[in-house]
Amino acid sequence: MKIKRTTIVIGCFLAELFFVNVTGQNKYQQHIQLPVIPQPNQVTLLQGSFSLTKDNGMILEMADSIRKQIMAYMVEEKEKPLYRHLVQISGKKKEKNNIRFIICPTQNIPTEGYHLRITQDSLLLEASQASGLFYGMQTLVQMAMNTENGQILPAVEIFDKPRFAYRGVMLDISRHFYGKDFLKKQIDLLAQYKINRLHLHLTDAAGWRIEIEHFPRLTSQAAWRTQAKWKDWWNGKRYYSTETHREAYGGYLTKNDVRELVEYAQKRAITIIPEIEMPSHSEEVLAAYPELSCTHQPYGPSDFCIGNEKTFRFLEEVLLEIMDLFPSEYIHIGGDEAPKTAWKTCLLCQRRIREEGLNGVDGLQSYLIHRIERFLNAHGRNLLGWDEILDGGLAPNATVMSWRGTEGGLAAVRSGHRAIMTPGAYCYLDSYQDAPNTQPEAIGGYLPLEKVYHYDPIPKELPDSLHHLIYGIQGNLWTEYIPTPEHAEYMLYPRALAVAETGWTNPDIKSWPDFHQRAMNAIEYMRHAGYNPFDLAKEYGNRPETAQQCKHKAFGKPVIYKAPYWHTYPAEGERTLTDGLRGGWNYNDGRWQGFVSSRRLDIVIDLEKTDTIHCIEADFMQLCGPGVFLPEQIKISISNNGNEFVPLTSWKHQVVRDDTLTIKRFTWKGEVSTRFIRYQAEASPTYGGVIFTDEIVVK
Ligand code: ACM
Repeated sequence: MKIKRTTIVIGCFLAELFFVNVTGQNKYQQHIQLPVIPQPNQVTLLQGSFSLTKDNGMILEMADSIRKQIMAYMVEEKEKPLYRHLVQISGKKKEKNNIRFIICPTQNIPTEGYHLRITQDSLLLEASQASGLFYGMQTLVQMAMNTENGQILPAVEIFDKPRFAYRGVMLDISRHFYGKDFLKKQIDLLAQYKINRLHLHLTDAAGWRIEIEHFPRLTSQAAWRTQAKWKDWWNGKRYYSTETHREAYGGYLTKNDVRELVEYAQKRAITIIPEIEMPSHSEEVLAAYPELSCTHQPYGPSDFCIGNEKTFRFLEEVLLEIMDLFPSEYIHIGGDEAPKTAWKTCLLCQRRIREEGLNGVDGLQSYLIHRIERFLNAHGRNLLGWDEILDGGLAPNATVMSWRGTEGGLAAVRSGHRAIMTPGAYCYLDSYQDAPNTQPEAIGGYLPLEKVYHYDPIPKELPDSLHHLIYGIQGNLWTEYIPTPEHAEYMLYPRALAVAETGWTNPDIKSWPDFHQRAMNAIEYMRHAGYNPFDLAKEYGNRPETAQQCKHKAFGKPVIYKAPYWHTYPAEGERTLTDGLRGGWNYNDGRWQGFVSSRRLDIVIDLEKTDTIHCIEADFMQLCGPGVFLPEQIKISISNNGNEFVPLTSWKHQVVRDDTLTIKRFTWKGEVSTRFIRYQAEASPTYGGVIFTDEIVVK
């Protein structure tokens, strides 16, 4: 998509105060871009401007209870100049220059939508429910922030509504715990950008983070460890401690904390969705209550024993307390990454499989999910889970969070279920957002703002008739490598804003160059407001080698694989190593090819004629966390007939485990005449893992 972008001048006076851009795909389709994230969907510029002065009147036409709530919100947020002004003038009606906020349920304004009309002598914001009014206020606040002194708004008419009903951010507060105040601070900001769901990953091996009265050891024991950093805990014995231990790290949300958070979020049109992991990622529970594990021992498998009725009594008690605290439609039950290994030999699990006629351990997982779904449905709630809940058959009313790509979401939607799209490659905000060697250690990957922004939650292959089942988008912040709240903000912002705009704004209106500028402004604002966003102005970007195709003597030449590449990371298949495309910071970017078979890469390039060459070079990646290692040995040999090869050069490289992403280039230089080049690389027997390379460059 080519986007034309022009700045239009709305009279010299206004242009200085307020920046408005016009974007469009072609001359017939132009859209005015306001300095607002997410970009409103239908904007018409009117003549003149409206002044926020003491001469304004303020009328709130809505039910008393909502008026009170909106006033309370504005008072809480009165450090924002617009709200300070509105709070001061509230209740006073004037002849003209009135500001009117109206909620009229019979209005023909869509859910969460609003109509804003600003003229020279009036400002009208109307909606059919409180959330729509709230979102209109967020638009106004950002418009006011982007004028010179926050007092002059351009005359404009906006009819706005979200593209998706679900616009979420997930925070993992298990791996590292950030408490109530941090969560409120994020709710404030996320609400400003019209995010409407905060999914809290409350339980995982690294710590249980919510008070449950029935099971006190979850918080007296399973919420604590002696290593503050997840990585030290994970690389150590992975023990839990107790709250009273002098080195205890951890914590949990008390029931009062949760009530306060839920109410705080609700005032800001955000629903908090709790996640209680099952059947796996549950080591902390099984350490505190080992009778729920197949082995009945702490520090054993990560899965609950599904053959044991005690497990269901536990889960149902926990879910009852959770439902009592969180009014959300959805309760997230995890469901991801269960190894299911212990179930294979557990007598109780095997008996359950037999008695229920289940299809092995996948059937057992599905049995759990179905049974928990019935329990939640009986209490008026719906089940939400990671895409593994599809394994063994999806529960009838479940919604799928598609994280391992988009296939899970597609499968769910094709079978009539809702899906929330959160594929790792676009929505995992724990990945590096810039060149890894410029960033604090992250889990891996490379997910710059632009890539998040360009993701479209509606897969291209999905027929129009199923689009409505794509319920929305979510950005996930897993926190294994994010030990502090400041670091969490750094990883969240501005990428969560790209999620917000994709969730709200129609794709034909989205504009990357314009969003980039608005994100830069938002970063300025966030800094002043005490947040710690990534500095987009200093972004280094992708590996420079990716910028253009490199043409060389092996470019486009056939490659014979003497050992196969790994089908999980095929890149472009047999073309990959001579297609002139170098990989970026992420081995998952479709340009790096992986080799696991017998730990080796073994290929022959046919130059298709004998030629004199002076250089052979290839890059290899190392990222130890996910098991990507540099090769220990490399050999290059040459041949003119493709059968008998003579050695050209070789390297022995000492593989050393480290924390950083390394891309190492091995280069041979000299002069030789050949047609065939055999390139072999072997992994170290100590580390094994995957070898990744992107191109064999021959000059
Ligand atoms: C997940 O990332 N395991 C949902």
